Amino acid sequence: VTQSINHASPDTPLIFSHRGSPYNYPEHSFKGYNRAIKDGTQYIEQDVWLSKDGKLFVSHDDNLKRTTGKNITISTTNSNKISQVKLRNGEKIHQLKDVFKCYGKKVHYIIETKKNAGDTTDTEKALVKELKKYKMTKNVIFQDESLPGIKELHHSLKKVPTLWLLSSATERQYKEQIENAPRYIKFISMKLDQWTPKLVKLSHQNGFKTNGWILNTYNDNYEALNTLKLDSVFTNNTKETVHLIDRW
Ligand code: G3P
Ligand code: CA
Repeated sequence: VTQSINHASPDTPLIFSHRGSPYNYPEHSFKGYNRAIKDGTQYIEQDVWLSKDGKLFVSHDDNLKRTTGKNITISTTNSNKISQVKLRNGEKIHQLKDVFKCYGKKVHYIIETKKNAGDTTDTEKALVKELKKYKMTKNVIFQDESLPGIKELHHSLKKVPTLWLLSSATERQYKEQIENAPRYIKFISMKLDQWTPKLVKLSHQNGFKTNGWILNTYNDNYEALNTLKLDSVFTNNTKETVHLIDRW
């Protein structure tokens, strides 16, 4: 893998490659990560699920039917069985440690813990161990939609930046979430089309950076991003987004 991280200036948004390069390769495949890196990403996204025997696997879905055709559920299956399942390009379902071993510190990672309703913070605890073991704490941003997960991670690794994924119905609800968010959170994230100038201003006033998802093409929310001047953006199309942001 050629190192081509393009560190943005403070005036341009950071780019997070959502599940790798899902337009070109299976999501969370090394082929997809390689492509995102070649296209100039700064962060490759990792969605992680904890297997029955406590290993962290990189997959957006708990059940692998959509991405592999196999009706196997990570959270209720042991790692030896999950490791036999193949993505549609023949790659296995990678463990987070395999990603760290392959890419090391050549890239940055934005890692989201996925879990079922009512789960404890075991996934975050496993992630903390892995980040320490592979000395990745300076290379990552942690993202979660649940505050208990963010609190757990922050409690153990205070220097790892955290991103909170908000989901509300109204601008007023978003406003309340932002005003009440723990101040140690680094990024407030919401869908691109939910951001308003007022919410961006409020986030910055409260010391938060902003994140929007998802930008794919010029026609797909680029104007909104350009107007809002968000601090970071998820993309399914790293090449196009790098190109757009180069002209920022
Ligand atoms: O953080 C943006 C994105 O990762 C959240 O959506 O469902 O792709 O994990 P999802
Ligand atoms: Ca995600």
